[in-house]
Amino acid sequence: MTSELIPQTFDKLFIGGRWVSPVDGGVRGSIDPATGEAWAEVAYGGIADIDLAVAAAREAFEGPWRRMAGWERAQIMRRFADLYAAHVEQLATIESRDNGRAIRESRLDVGMHAQYYHWYASLADKMGGRTIPMDDSVHAFTTRLPVGVVGTITPWNVPLMAAAWKLGPALAAGCTVVLKAAEQTPASSLALGRLIEAAGFPAGVVNIVPGDGPVAGAHLVAHPGVDKIAFTGEGETAKTIIRNGAETLKRFSFELGGKAPHIIFADADVDQALNAATGSVWTLCGQSCALGSRVLVERPIYDHVVEEFRKRAARVRVGMPLDPATHMGPQAHLQQLEKTLSYIDIGKAEGAELVTGGARVERDGLSGGYFVEPTAFAAVDPNMRIAQEEIFGPVAALIPFDGEDEAVAIANGTRYGLTAGLWTGDVGRAHRVANRIEAGMVWVNTYRYIRWSTPYGGLKASGWGRENGIESLDSYLETRTTVISTTGKFADPYA
Ligand code: NAI
Ligand code: MG
Repeated sequence: MTSELIPQTFDKLFIGGRWVSPVDGGVRGSIDPATGEAWAEVAYGGIADIDLAVAAAREAFEGPWRRMAGWERAQIMRRFADLYAAHVEQLATIESRDNGRAIRESRLDVGMHAQYYHWYASLADKMGGRTIPMDDSVHAFTTRLPVGVVGTITPWNVPLMAAAWKLGPALAAGCTVVLKAAEQTPASSLALGRLIEAAGFPAGVVNIVPGDGPVAGAHLVAHPGVDKIAFTGEGETAKTIIRNGAETLKRFSFELGGKAPHIIFADADVDQALNAATGSVWTLCGQSCALGSRVLVERPIYDHVVEEFRKRAARVRVGMPLDPATHMGPQAHLQQLEKTLSYIDIGKAEGAELVTGGARVERDGLSGGYFVEPTAFAAVDPNMRIAQEEIFGPVAALIPFDGEDEAVAIANGTRYGLTAGLWTGDVGRAHRVANRIEAGMVWVNTYRYIRWSTPYGGLKASGWGRENGIESLDSYLETRTTVISTTGKFADPYA
């Protein structure tokens, strides 16, 4: 288990258990967002490469993988999980280099993934059905079958985490996978292939083909050899995917972002709430669907919270991603930097009050990268665009409210419904408010507690289906009902 398993070369695709050059994709530089320069030559798949990957996944599905006993699949998954655990440092470093996430965050994130795979391995032999009480003339029961070949389309903010959330349940269920990693940050997903290879998965069970969304991604979605698409990304992309998948009646699961309300009541432990609220909103340079980008603050403590955001922003160390002292790296790519800066302009034009930040970081050594200051706006009206639309940058919108009803109305007043947080010292209020919030996940007196076993996913425009938890298996499995007569008699209808 040495680092030699993961060489620092990314110029081949992983298809059918082999490292191959792209047929009609290509090799191009992947940009280090901390410098704006290419740091690695990376393979991208085109249409023909996706075709080869789907064919390999289909062969592996019809061949060894779906026939293998669950406990045998679990053994291979556990070997993979152990290899993953032994390579956290390498994987985290590659991911931070490629997407700019501060290494202290990447280590924590990547450090949890092995447990995801272990947990899913433990489910691989437990997907039983149920018996259905009928009458003495039949025995009816269900069995669960893998959906088939799954195309997983992952984003650039958390490539390895998104892969774990999809590969874990897919492999446990007996599906095979074509992983189409995001074009901006493909390196860590290709590194993952080295561990898949070493773990001894049969050839073609996992194929890794980064590529451009509208080309490789769209082809994977439309491909008749693919049974399901598991996607994380933007809602607009999901709509395109639904249209492109309609012809082949694809199954879908979608995780589509959010505009999470993080509600702080005046009766809360405000200091703890501030740790969570400031910690969340600038994590990952704001590039996560779960962050509490709308901070809803009860009026009596509003000015205090605003002042604390200003003070704490000054303590955020913006810097090079691989420096262990860095809290916040750059935005992961140039378009995202431009998107964030444009929303900061929108916030100003809408009349929100800039409390802190609000500019690209131009200081020495960082000016070539896509760095932006930790930012917060106060006096934000819930209907402003900066309070309604997903910015995906380190921009907090601090919104005052009076009382529970208004907090709930504001919290629910967007098209999203992924995550939410609330802080209160009143246990009754905790239950009341949590129960009224339209979100797939609600945290009380904590935030961003996300694990393998806790179902995660969105209501409303935030997605379809759940990732993590036993529930995540549902979208990778079909149910077959079998009815067996106990008599073998079937009446002649024409007698
Ligand atoms: P995107 O939805 O375009 O990209 C996500 C993935 O979808 C990438 O792998 C991409 O190659 C692929 N893709 C793009 N077009 C496709 C198509 N036509 N068919 C199949 N696959 C396709 O997201 P993008 O443009 O990178 O980011 C835009 C915004 O989306 C962000 O600013 C953020 O607001 C949101 N987003 C949310 C994420 C989340 O975690 N929920 C992750 C990434 C983006
Ligand atoms: Mg896009």
